[in-house]
Amino acid sequence: MNTITDIKPTTTHDFLDDVLAGLSQPQKTIPCKWFYDEAGSVIFEEITETPEYYPTRVETKLLVDVAQDLPSYLPHLKVIVEPGSGSSIKTRILLGSQKELNTYIPMEISAEFLSFVAEQLHADYLSINTLPIVSDFTNIHTPLNDRIDPSRLVFFPGSTIGNFPPEEAADLLNSFHLLAGKQGHLLIGVDGTQDEAQLVAAYNDAAGVTEAFNKNLLVRANNELGADFNLAQFAHVARFNQQESRIEMHLKSLCAQKVTIKKHVFNFHKNETIFTENCYKYDKNRFMAMANQCGWDLVTTWKDQHLSNFQLFLLKPSN
Ligand code: TRP
Repeated sequence: MNTITDIKPTTTHDFLDDVLAGLSQPQKTIPCKWFYDEAGSVIFEEITETPEYYPTRVETKLLVDVAQDLPSYLPHLKVIVEPGSGSSIKTRILLGSQKELNTYIPMEISAEFLSFVAEQLHADYLSINTLPIVSDFTNIHTPLNDRIDPSRLVFFPGSTIGNFPPEEAADLLNSFHLLAGKQGHLLIGVDGTQDEAQLVAAYNDAAGVTEAFNKNLLVRANNELGADFNLAQFAHVARFNQQESRIEMHLKSLCAQKVTIKKHVFNFHKNETIFTENCYKYDKNRFMAMANQCGWDLVTTWKDQHLSNFQLFLLKPSN
């Protein structure tokens, strides 16, 4: 693997630390980055194909317009950098359409998944140099190597920015300057949908794919840390918190029970939850207020007119 930045690799030890610390808090929690081992990454792709989960379909459609319009804003785009690249499926729309593009840098926490995806991209886009980086993109502290052409686009789709609390979202937007450099741009997908029924269905699909995704955290804890979570005694919960404008995902204990992880015992009372993830929903003004604070100016947006309030923002560094 290429080392374009010195981002720290993650280990099982970090997972253990995070799980023990998270389950020791009054509101038990497990950080959402641990969703994404190879199995979790595969289940996540299945979520994006469920009938209820609209963001992927909406954003993919918008990207077709973006791909057409982008050359008028970035005629000499050479490099796409994608923190949290996953399957890179959406990125293909851009990889196949930008004339001068010659480098793609996918950054992904799941090493197995990343190398599998990178090999396929390499085969499918012979004129594009794919330079994968195994990394936790919440930990970017060093700029991209300055041998990477400055005509760059940082691509952050999927409304992933909404999976971080506002202060961490701001940290991320700030750290993306290290990837973009002074001349680069940021293309970011942001969901602002507020319809409660639509949201709850999207994060609690009838086929139970999102449930399996959420419970994968417990599967991992059992397999990798020797925990004894009984999966049948936890339920997936997705609720909309209107005040905070976010969907909250939890794993709810269906009875009073004890869970043991490496000799640490955690007590659950009935209905107690492990909080696993937030999905914040930002309208344009709220999102741009945060982006401006983080040194990003608006260039343009692409917006869904029909199914949702999903938008893609093209931003450039403020001077
Ligand atoms: N960021 C996307 C969203 O908030 C995708 C996503 C992240 C997601 N974690 C998830 C979707 C958990 C469903 C469940 O919609």
